[in-house]
Amino acid sequence: MVKTEILKMLKGTAGYVSGQELCERLGVSRTAVWKVIRQLQEDGYEIEAIRNRGYHLKKSEDVFTREEICSALHTKWVGRNLVFLDVTDSTNNEARRRAEEGAPNGTLVVALEQNAGKGRRGRTWFSTSGAGIWMSLLLRPEIPPECASMLTLVAALAVEAAIYQVTGLEGQIKWPNDVVLDEKKVCGILTEMSTEMERIHYVVVGIGINVSITEFPEELQDKATSISLCTDKTVNRAELTAAVAKAWEEYYGRFLQTLDLSLLIEEYSRHLINRDREVKVLTPGDTYSGICRGINKKGELLVETSEGMREVMSGEVSVRGIYSYV
Ligand code: BTN
Repeated sequence: MVKTEILKMLKGTAGYVSGQELCERLGVSRTAVWKVIRQLQEDGYEIEAIRNRGYHLKKSEDVFTREEICSALHTKWVGRNLVFLDVTDSTNNEARRRAEEGAPNGTLVVALEQNAGKGRRGRTWFSTSGAGIWMSLLLRPEIPPECASMLTLVAALAVEAAIYQVTGLEGQIKWPNDVVLDEKKVCGILTEMSTEMERIHYVVVGIGINVSITEFPEELQDKATSISLCTDKTVNRAELTAAVAKAWEEYYGRFLQTLDLSLLIEEYSRHLINRDREVKVLTPGDTYSGICRGINKKGELLVETSEGMREVMSGEVSVRGIYSYV
């Protein structure tokens, strides 16, 4: 695409790139180059245009566009088919629609805004326009359906690693898949799937990262945070999206080797915020408390109760701290 190529050339040049050079390298007219420059400026890039010198891109802190994600992506298969939308109901719904139309494994759907963002257990997901990363990854894994619940734990690890890589902030994971900064939730993950008999048709892993939200609705204030509330650094959402995609390839690759979490358990446990804390487990028919002792290789939470060790499966279960969100 000409737009991506022009952006790459501008980014790769410290000074000015002449209009002539852009035209020659890309085989397009001066008017076409100018039109693309205008589009890039509308996307938020600060581009200086000086007669007889050419174009110069000033450092852009957080431009979140399809081109920006494409130029930051260094993956083999995740996001190679990238769907970028200004607004959608829910990126999970969009990914499901694309899946039904035959979109390939690794399709990544990203939206600036969701007007019906979905959380777990039928809740809505607060997805302010432009202040977060709302994305869904479409997978067509050849794994038994009973292994699919582990994918959310894999995703939590990938997000935690990507946040650390891009911001230097070391997050934790609240089992099974909330990423936590300063004891509050910064990322939620919603995995949905379509199965046929014993076979998975497709899985959609939906990831919501609060990036620059500074005010949450009252009911979320005690439990939600954003990256901006935890650091002064400006986060580049395209870079973070690409880092999640790359980390996903890495952790998912390890998961596929064993079809369980054997190769990830150690890293997951290191980040598990519930570890050695008292937790309350709420299931549809039962509520009990105990001390969290980590996870097993199936991703189940180990809770030491007065009656012995219990293995808690994710799904309809909710795990809380005794006094607060964690
Ligand atoms: C949770 O309740 O913790 C899960 C929240 C998942 C939110 C993300 S945002 C992108 C994707 N699209 C949705 O509608 N939900 C997920």
